[in-house]
Parts: sequence; structure tokens; C-alpha cells
Amino acid sequence: MAKEKKTFDLKEYPFPTEEIPRLNIDNPETEKRIAAGLPVVITDSGLVRSALHWDLDYLQGNIGDGKFTVYKSKNKKFQYFDDKKVDTFKDFEKPMEHLDLTFPEFVKKLKTAKPGKDKVYLQQALNEGVGKRIVADFLGFNWSWVTEQQKKNKFGALTSNLLLIGMEGNVTPAHYDEQENFFAQIRGYKRFILFHPDQFKCMYPYPTYHPCDRQSQVDFDNPDYKRFPKFKDVKGYETVVGPGDVLFLPMYWWHQVESLPDHGHTISVTFWYKAGPIGNVVYPLSPQQKVSMMRNLEKMIHQALNNTDEIPEFMQNMVLGRYTDPPA
Ligand code: OGA
Ligand code: ZN
Repeated sequence: MAKEKKTFDLKEYPFPTEEIPRLNIDNPETEKRIAAGLPVVITDSGLVRSALHWDLDYLQGNIGDGKFTVYKSKNKKFQYFDDKKVDTFKDFEKPMEHLDLTFPEFVKKLKTAKPGKDKVYLQQALNEGVGKRIVADFLGFNWSWVTEQQKKNKFGALTSNLLLIGMEGNVTPAHYDEQENFFAQIRGYKRFILFHPDQFKCMYPYPTYHPCDRQSQVDFDNPDYKRFPKFKDVKGYETVVGPGDVLFLPMYWWHQVESLPDHGHTISVTFWYKAGPIGNVVYPLSPQQKVSMMRNLEKMIHQALNNTDEIPEFMQNMVLGRYTDPPA
């Protein structure tokens, strides 16, 4: 019997989207898409079957008494920023607050949060501090499948499994990561909106030296088309993942993630892999390689000038009137 499909009242955005295919793990198309670097929702992988019973009570009883990274936001948005880059940016206002809490302290905040007030989001790598039962659940992940994918697709090393526990309505605004990701949903539902790396020009990321490097500057709820005119042309892909689903989220693909109402909270675990070896460069370069090249050029300029104030003028001198509005 087919599982009943959940329906949610999804916010409408001012751009069109296409559904990301949902395919069974045994469907040959699944592997083809992963090999081609295309997103796919993989069903019945059993990747986190051993964790599908996780809930707040069980985690509280077994996750250990260490401190956990929790973010607190005054609105629903949890925009990541790099603490190491904060000092070079004088007027930077942190988009969220970083707290180190014990698990019970986090659960209390989650349960007592008032609608429309501060929201919290736990984002902590699963590590040695966890109790025996969590270790057993972790060892029960379908490592043989995920490791086979890592090998077949020449991904680099597994860097981390991030445990994410969010409140309904939490939004991780659009950004891209420099790692391959098998994103496993455990509890509740998340809506993903993805954009192909070739949409870079529509997404207007912050400069690489900015704390919000890799994040889009566009506010999806209120896009400023004067500053970001090409956002009008953006085309996305979307899906809703639920318990047991795994989204293959390829490196450099833009994504926004929203926790949907269900249990009042969502639980997910990422499987992040480093990029594979570069190999021979073949032309034309892929959109992903172009993004990587732009990042390197930007970083070189930043390093050479050693003063963030000079960068915009330097870049403009290089381009304005010479590379902009070329004659027809
Ligand atoms: C990711 C990611 C955010 C979220 O897995 O790369 O951005 O809210 N996740 O799940
Ligand atoms: Zn991400």
C-alpha cells in the first residue's frame, strides 16, 4: 500500500520551480543522477533506518551531557556566517546568535518558544561524546551503500555528520556548500528549494571575504529587484523530504531549507563528503568549475590588496566600461 502523501501549505515564491525526481534506491536512474551530479530524492535507502525512532526524549536520554551548538534567531531565518571573518567586516551584524547548550537546555528552549518569538536550531556534528545507544544507532546507518556511492563517484573523505534539530518554520536561507551531501531526513518534513550552479549570476552571493560567503544576498520574502535584477530570471527545483528520505545535494547547488509543521520539530543528519580529485581539466569548464575559479580569483585579489575597502573599486575598474555592456 502506498504511503499517504503529506500535503503542506507551502509559501509561494516569485520564481518557477520543477519537482526534483523521487526515485527508489534500486532504480538505475538514481545512480545515473548521482554520477551526473544531479539532485535526487532517494527512497528506501535505509541510510538512517536505525535512527528513525529518534525523538527528543530518546536523544535527551542518550546523547550525552556535552555542550551543543545551538543558534537562536529573532526571525525565522538561520543564516550561517563564518565567525573567523566577522572582525574584518566592521559593520557586520550577526544574523543569529550562537549558544553552547546542554541537550536538556536546548529542548527546554524549543518546547517553551512562543510563536513569533525567538527560534532555536541545534546544529552539532555527531561525535565521540554521545552515549552507547546513539553509537549503536550510528553504526547501524547503511554505511555500505553510502561508502559505495562515495567510491563510485570519487568523492573525498567523509568530513562530518551534522545533526540538525529545528523548529517548524525555521528557514536556512539560500546558500551553496563546497561539499557533496547525502541529506537524510529522520523526523518531520523539510522543503528544499534548489538552484543549479549555473544560476550563480541570479543569486548574488556575498563576497568571499564576507562572513556570509556562499550565501545569497537576496531576501526571498522581499527580493530587491533594483539591486538584484537577475533574480527575476531564476528557476528552481523543489521537493519535500520526510522520514527515511535521502536527498543527494550535489556540491555548489544552491539550496534553501524550511522545516515544515508536523511534530513541531524536525530531525536530520547530513553525510558531507569532500570534493573528489580534480583530474584532467576539460573544456568547456562546468558551471561548478567556473564558480570555483571565481572564488579563487576573488580570494587572490583580497589577499593582494589586503584591505577590503579597496576591493569594490578595484573590481569595478577592471570591468566597468570594458567588460560591461559590450557593443552588440
Ligand atoms: C545542508 C543544509 C540546512 C537545513 O544540509 O547543506 O544547508 O536547515 N541544511 O537542513
Ligand atoms: Zn547547506
